[in-house]
Amino acid sequence: MLNNGSVAAADLITADPEPFKWRMGVKPLELNDWLLVDDQRTADLEEIGRLIDSHREETIYCQSSALKGCEELATEVLQHLRQLPGLESIELDKQNMSLIEAVRRVIQEDVCLLEKRSSGWTMTACAVAIPTQWDVASKFGKTLDVIHEPVPRYDTDLSQPMTRFFDRLQPEKPVWRANRTLTDDPSLRLEPHRRHQPLRDDITVDNVADRVWLRVEYQTLRRLPQSGAIVFTIRILRQKIKSVATHPGVLTELLRSLSTLPADVRTYKDSTSRHAGLIKQWAVSTGLVTAEDSTQH
Ligand code: HEM
Repeated sequence: MLNNGSVAAADLITADPEPFKWRMGVKPLELNDWLLVDDQRTADLEEIGRLIDSHREETIYCQSSALKGCEELATEVLQHLRQLPGLESIELDKQNMSLIEAVRRVIQEDVCLLEKRSSGWTMTACAVAIPTQWDVASKFGKTLDVIHEPVPRYDTDLSQPMTRFFDRLQPEKPVWRANRTLTDDPSLRLEPHRRHQPLRDDITVDNVADRVWLRVEYQTLRRLPQSGAIVFTIRILRQKIKSVATHPGVLTELLRSLSTLPADVRTYKDSTSRHAGLIKQWAVSTGLVTAEDSTQH
């Protein structure tokens, strides 16, 4: 149980096994924790509505085969939200928009729907307004292997386990996992080009804890029982490094795991790796961590 409503990015940082290998890292999900609602909901949904209006072509996608799954998703979303105080009579506004867009406008999560095709699990619908540095439109209608093409080592570490996992995922056994990024941009939507931008000159060891954010993607996967489609949700959790540092052990674990990244993964997670270097200098200089603790054992 994640304590719905008050989960922080730092709460989802767990130890990575060494040596580095991408792992599925999925854990059982309690359905109460599927969609997180917090006191930012109104502000987030206003911002997301504006982002959909200004980026609809690169945000919303739906093939006709996905319509049944989208209907089922809409029912599940309303059922989930209606259990929460103040949302008991929530409805979707389906005027002039696709169902997946109507769903996206009432939840703080981005959402993708996948269907099994002969070429593999394929993203046949999505509403992704606040990606973390990825190009959403280039993934429309693509298989998991193609979607993950930019991720080094995906083919050796994840491709087969992912296919097996998706094939076997049962409706009554949903899961969650988390991804982490370090960024100087606290916006909900992060454009792909930010990943490889040089570090800003004005971010220094002295101000990095105030200027850089831990951004965690809280991801869930569940299979819809009737359509058989798989729903993937991505909720963005953001926390300033200064606040992360108040969680005992988390900063050390984060820096240690980022220090174990091999060169190709470091290049892929470019800005994250470079921010980690500066945060480590700050954390060691303030005595929060030792150089040894925050480095690979
Ligand atoms: C258990 C399921 C999954 C696992 C284990 C997984 C794993 C990963 C990993 C390790 C990365 C690199 C992340 C990083 O920067 O640290 C990644 C990136 C990504 N994943 Fe997944 N993923 C899963 C499901 C999905 C699904 C269902 C989708 C979409 C339908 C998806 C879309 C993406 C995208 C778009 C990226 C960024 C790729 C880019 O840089 O262009 N993932 N994933």
